[in-house]
Amino acid sequence: MLKTSIHFPAGFLWGTATASHQVEGGNTNNNWYQWENQDGNIKDHGKSGLACNWWGGKWKEDLDRAAETHQNAHRLSIEWSRVQPSPDRWDEDALEYYRQIIRGMVERKLEPMVTLHHFTDPLWLTELGGWETDAVIPLFDRYVKKVVEALAEYAHIWVTINEPNVYIWGGYMGGGFPPGKNDMNLGLQVMANMLRGHAAAYRTIHAIQPQARVGFALNYRDLQPARPWFGPDRWMAGIQSKIYNETFAGAIKTGKLDAVFKKITLPEAAGTQDYLGINYYTGDLVSFDLSAGNEMFGRRSTPPGAEMSETGFIANVPPGIFRALHWARKFDVPLMVTENGVEDSEDRLRPQYLVEHLEQVWRAANYNYRVEGYFHWSLVDNFEWERGWTQHWGLWGLDQSTQARIRRPSVDLYSAICAENGLTY
Ligand code: NOJ
Repeated sequence: MLKTSIHFPAGFLWGTATASHQVEGGNTNNNWYQWENQDGNIKDHGKSGLACNWWGGKWKEDLDRAAETHQNAHRLSIEWSRVQPSPDRWDEDALEYYRQIIRGMVERKLEPMVTLHHFTDPLWLTELGGWETDAVIPLFDRYVKKVVEALAEYAHIWVTINEPNVYIWGGYMGGGFPPGKNDMNLGLQVMANMLRGHAAAYRTIHAIQPQARVGFALNYRDLQPARPWFGPDRWMAGIQSKIYNETFAGAIKTGKLDAVFKKITLPEAAGTQDYLGINYYTGDLVSFDLSAGNEMFGRRSTPPGAEMSETGFIANVPPGIFRALHWARKFDVPLMVTENGVEDSEDRLRPQYLVEHLEQVWRAANYNYRVEGYFHWSLVDNFEWERGWTQHWGLWGLDQSTQARIRRPSVDLYSAICAENGLTY
């Protein structure tokens, strides 16, 4: 039988992504630890607990797994509350431990991509008002300086803030994240401060490391009109996509935070990205519906025929990742898929999900969209925020009671893709 191959550009980054609070274990000094310990916030009373015990040394064998399966990059995050346990103290031992981990990546030929903020805030920062107050900007900047100075020898690709839109949706629009508020104006203020924090960090990182590549990771949701022939659906899907997908990224391009109902000028943010990170998981159809009040007159539904993930959390909508990359060209910077994956303990949908999404990423690369890497979420099952331990996103599963890793069939599939820098059918 004739074989077909698709190949990605030379030097393409192939990796997986993780985040500190989800894998390290023992993070007791941040807002998520506090949130987990308040009743009713996490599905099935889940707690991050030991997580994947990376802080106890398990990162070594997990990074071995990544390297042995032909990955050439890994994305992780630094836990601010470890590096700066109180406003007046840096924990040099914690920083040194991160240096070991990042050096461990380089030794394994895994290009490090380092996220500086992935949802968690130090408790002391939360007590000061978190990202609601602009006091956070110099604080974040000082923390970034400290981390980048310590890690610059090994890392060159930085993600300032992971999914600001999810942090805000989750924490300020009733989405199940701390601080559990429902206040759109406050959410907008948080966004403005995150933009200012990002902009300050961008300059600080470049001052330390001129060749650094600095960006942020956007959660992109593919929002399409349910009835493409019906103008109000197209209009509604367009507005929702603009608000959710474009507000933060748009401000980084133009220096104007345009949240449709409110505009804030942030000249310092303009032009502060060297690449755009896209976390893409799924998409919805949007129909204009006056009765959908709290959904802003747009009712969302699952595209018909799309397969659902194990707990029904996401639908398999592969063309959405192409549309995300297509949309992202307007920012005139290289693109990275900083996350993509599916929750699936049985590995029933993951192989198909993986291949179908990569075909779409390849399609984009083939149109010369500047996509430079793909990071699968995740390397190993980990603590999934408000959904606790009920979802399984890892190429490897995790037995929490023994810390054993369970190799899912997708490991071999992804390994072959990484080794070949493409796919052969
Ligand atoms: C996005 C987040 O960045 C990550 O922390 C989370 O685990 C995955 N999506 C899966 O929901």
